[in-house]
Amino acid sequence: MADNLLEIRDLAVEFGTDIGTTHALREVSFDVLRGKVTAIVGESGSGKSVTANCIMRLIQPPGRITGGKIHFSPNDAPAYDIAALPNKDPRLLDLRGGSVSMVFQEPMTALSPVYTVGNQVAEAILCHRNVSKEEAFEEAADMLRRVGIDNVDRRIQQYPFEFSGGMRQRVVIAMALVCHPQLLICDEPTTALDVTIQAEILTLIRDLQKDLKNSVLFITHDLGVVAQMADQVVVMYQGRVLEVGSVRQVLKTPVHPYTRGLLAAIPGLATKGARLATIASVVGDADLTTPHPLMTLADGRQVSLSSAQLADLELTDD
Ligand SMILES: Nc1ncnc2c1ncn2[C@@H]1O[C@H](COP(=O)(O)OP(=O)(O)O)[C@@H](O)[C@H]1O
Ligand SMILES: [Mg+2]
Repeated sequence: MADNLLEIRDLAVEFGTDIGTTHALREVSFDVLRGKVTAIVGESGSGKSVTANCIMRLIQPPGRITGGKIHFSPNDAPAYDIAALPNKDPRLLDLRGGSVSMVFQEPMTALSPVYTVGNQVAEAILCHRNVSKEEAFEEAADMLRRVGIDNVDRRIQQYPFEFSGGMRQRVVIAMALVCHPQLLICDEPTTALDVTIQAEILTLIRDLQKDLKNSVLFITHDLGVVAQMADQVVVMYQGRVLEVGSVRQVLKTPVHPYTRGLLAAIPGLATKGARLATIASVVGDADLTTPHPLMTLADGRQVSLSSAQLADLELTDD
């Protein structure tokens, strides 16, 4: 079996608008490692959610994938390119919510207010697997227990409004995991939650991943969260990938000036303005707008730098 569940290569997405074309993604390339947590980190608008939506083939007009490949090697079926699947291909039905499932920032985007929690989690099972309704409800209850919902027999009959924000996100995680997805995508899953609850949900996602050994693509704007969650890190900026490496490489010895800026902005800077100012001061006059191809360094990480910047790196390495 291939080591990489996904190999994304030169992925490009454009949105056509009245005032012109937005290049949301340009030449995005990285791997999602099988059985590991790969994090995408980048500020708002850098293309993190668009990347996730491409994997689920959820890009809607006026957006479209204009180039590149998303090579998917499922555990139990022949590999294929998600980007090239025709719209009516049956593999899309399995992909969305079957082999790949997603947890969004705001739990109510995934939950319906008018059905009980038990119904919704069981429905996720019935959509993708051939089991009886009774079995589906039993499995739903088991998964709800596993994500830390107490009094499941009673809670399963309640509606989402009877749950707190953190508890709702636990339900969404249960719903995402009941079909045993090979890839769980978490798109800023704790941003909408109280700070005290955020840590609990992160721990839950990490513990479940260690237990279930599925692959996770974890999206965040917070490099502090990356340190806690990820095995591999992809740094994005303005629709491009600037650096890819192990969590140790990227956090201990970041190579790209932008990654260094993100790191400098971690401790205690509460406001977005303060974070951006710190990033800007570290990045200095390094040009972030000119695209450079991703180069693989001797230690295996990849980085997008100009040839002059790469030459400087080799000097400092010596
Ligand atoms: N529906 C849309 N219409 C037009 N442009 C969009 C749309 N969705 C995303 N984009 C473009 O893609 C860029 C990246 O968006 P997104 O992936 O949502 O960023 P984030 O990293 O915050 O998740 C945005 O800055 C915007 O230019
Ligand atoms: Mg987003």
